Amino acid sequence: MMRSTSALRRGVQLAQLARPISTTASAAFAQPAETSTPAAGKAPAIKEFKIYRWNPDTPSEKPKLESFKIDLNQTGPMMLDALIKIKNEVDPTLTFRRSCREGICGSCAMNIDGVNTLACLCRIDKDTSKTTKVYPLPHMFVVKDLVPDLTLFYKQYKSIQPYLQNDNVPEKEYYQSQEDRKKLDGMYECILCACCSTSCPSYWWNQDQYLGPAVLMQAYRWIADSRDAYGAERKEQLENSMSVFRCHTIMNCSRTCPKGLSPGAAIAALKLEMATGRKA
Ligand code: SF4
Ligand code: SF4
Ligand code: FES
Repeated sequence: MMRSTSALRRGVQLAQLARPISTTASAAFAQPAETSTPAAGKAPAIKEFKIYRWNPDTPSEKPKLESFKIDLNQTGPMMLDALIKIKNEVDPTLTFRRSCREGICGSCAMNIDGVNTLACLCRIDKDTSKTTKVYPLPHMFVVKDLVPDLTLFYKQYKSIQPYLQNDNVPEKEYYQSQEDRKKLDGMYECILCACCSTSCPSYWWNQDQYLGPAVLMQAYRWIADSRDAYGAERKEQLENSMSVFRCHTIMNCSRTCPKGLSPGAAIAALKLEMATGRKA
């Protein structure tokens, strides 16, 4: 269902871009988590997690799902807690990205039970009769286990020149009215986790040319910024059949965004402005 830009939920400020990789840890660092103290008087709640594994050091071995069982009474409530517990106590070679553990950095994006989301914002399904399956973000090359290769994604982000451009540099600061500032709400909060782009069928099949929802929303974020003077050039750069217009308004992107943003609505506004010159 399409949500208007004004209805987009506010989130936190644009994330840091650093995405540390949890690569193979030395066994010396595999410390039992504090949460492993048995919860007094509670029967174990054993849950199975099946996690995608692939190791670039043994490329002839096919990717596989590996089963891990942990007691939910001895781990935190989020999927990232479960992954960290498995890495700390069961298999230090399990590889995934994480940093902030509070939905700010965008590092822990992965596919959990069929949904692209942030592991640190995703609650563990407490139903122990169901197995939870964890995969890397779909339709991306895999670096190792749950770590997707985001090289192209960042290259595409760089291509839209995601920074203020204005040749008339003011003596003090760039003035922006409160009304104009509000136009950036619902876009500036994006943490570039790539959940939306990797849920978009158009991006799956055309990512060599189609920029995808995350990058397009950021392109529009700068076009919509009253302080930026390069809107016409930005739109001209996107004026071709592939960069923007491969979006067919399927809205998978807006449904999956773990920050509650709507890149699909931003792309619709961008397309309207490019096609008619009218602001959404
Ligand atoms: S609305 Fe556009 S960008 Fe979003 S999933 Fe659909 S095709 Fe992809
Ligand atoms: S718009 Fe896309 S990249 Fe940005 S936070 Fe939402 S899902 Fe992540
Ligand atoms: S660890 Fe930073 S968003 Fe999940």
